[in-house]
Amino acid sequence: MAALTTARPARVDDVAPVLPVVGADTLVPLVDGRRVPYANLDVAASAPALQEVAARVERVLPLYASVHRGAGYLSQVSTALYEQARRTVGEFVGARDDDLTVVVRNTTDALNLLAGCVPADPVTGEPGRVLVLDVEHHANLLPWQRGTEATVLTGGPTVAATLAELRAELADAAGTGQRYALLAVTGASNVTGEALPLAAVVEAAHAYGARVTLDGAQLVPHRRFSLAGTGVDYVAFSGHKTYAPFGAGALVGRRDWLDAGTPYLAGGGAVRRVRAGEAVWHEGPARHEAGSPNVVGAVALAAACEALAAVDPQRLRAHEEALRSRLVAGLAEIDRVEVAHVWDDAADPVGVVTFTVTGYDPGLVAAYLSAEHGVGVRDGRFCAHPLLGRLGFDAGAVRASVGVGTPGSDVERLLAAVRLLVEEGPRARYDVVDGLWVVVDDPRPVPEGTGLEGLLATAALGLDEAFGCLPD
Ligand SMILES: Cc1ncc(COP(=O)(O)O)c(C=O)c1O
Repeated sequence: MAALTTARPARVDDVAPVLPVVGADTLVPLVDGRRVPYANLDVAASAPALQEVAARVERVLPLYASVHRGAGYLSQVSTALYEQARRTVGEFVGARDDDLTVVVRNTTDALNLLAGCVPADPVTGEPGRVLVLDVEHHANLLPWQRGTEATVLTGGPTVAATLAELRAELADAAGTGQRYALLAVTGASNVTGEALPLAAVVEAAHAYGARVTLDGAQLVPHRRFSLAGTGVDYVAFSGHKTYAPFGAGALVGRRDWLDAGTPYLAGGGAVRRVRAGEAVWHEGPARHEAGSPNVVGAVALAAACEALAAVDPQRLRAHEEALRSRLVAGLAEIDRVEVAHVWDDAADPVGVVTFTVTGYDPGLVAAYLSAEHGVGVRDGRFCAHPLLGRLGFDAGAVRASVGVGTPGSDVERLLAAVRLLVEEGPRARYDVVDGLWVVVDDPRPVPEGTGLEGLLATAALGLDEAFGCLPD
């Protein structure tokens, strides 16, 4: 692999979080009996809630009542809160005046919904054609294989080569009357944090009559993004990755496909009129939001959007860039560690870094980081099997990811722990049980075995109650 960076960023011990998150002082047990603050470097999977989000949820919960259906006063309050949250979420991603914002559960939900709305080819009547790259998360690969005609393109080794391949494919298809309806791209890879430049992607797709959907799961929480500003047609993202882990996400974009598409869920709220065997469906977001809406989730997501929008985008970027560069450079300095990247010339990746340690299974590395250092990372193939295969990581890898709540000291802890692993090996013994790496005779309380009170007691006691200190 080519060198990822030549700069040598300084240690980041003193880099503070950009926004406070709940649970930042939570202590976790180590195999040696100590407890240490949890270093959550798995933010790309699910991010902890912002304190502002938790505070908003606490204020809204007492007002909670049925949405859209009740005549009671609090039902009207809840309905207004829900609709206001929808507007805030749309504004946060730069929705155009005529765009719809549909509240969904998460990115997977949003992309499955959109897959049911891609129109058939107006000339051939065949299912609409969708073009994707093999770098995508399964959520942006599999939905297109249902009801639409998906082509998965293997990109080149550089951004420039990949863009050229995309353009050639779009042009060939248009030239043979097989025009793509949609190009679905990631805003940032959940494996490496890299992305193609959006302006070039949009320009290429629109030149050949294709719309662009952005899988914004890893981009929206980390960079300021605007539909109107980029020309992207749809964006999908998840609240639980945007510091609002209460089960809501959004699909925002062009109204026409959504108004004409298959209602995502069949049920109450999505229909204007029903007779036996016949239904007249709503247009607008309601068409795809059958069932009781997740008002608390929507309010939480909107609160997170507001909090992120209030931060200077350069500050967000600089914080993440400092942590990411230190991670990449620090890992690259450790023997036997290989850091993954897709393109040699990718610019401005978000804070996601994937690596392997030769001689250690990724599952063992992750178990060791947790058991001996209190560091939480992700291991496996990250729901991106085609990309991991192409990068030569069929056996999986380890992923560390950061966000607005990550202090630089967490990054330093990870680097020190990986270095110790390579130089001295693990102290505990590990084995595979039911496909998972575990500590042999693990002395820590087993979460499933501790009951509700035991689980809740895991929560932050305050740093001064830690009966141990961090490893050097
Ligand atoms: C890039 C990307 N797309 C889609 C998803 C799916 O998100 P969700 O599980 O919230 O539906 C993820 C989740 O990790 C992701 O990282």
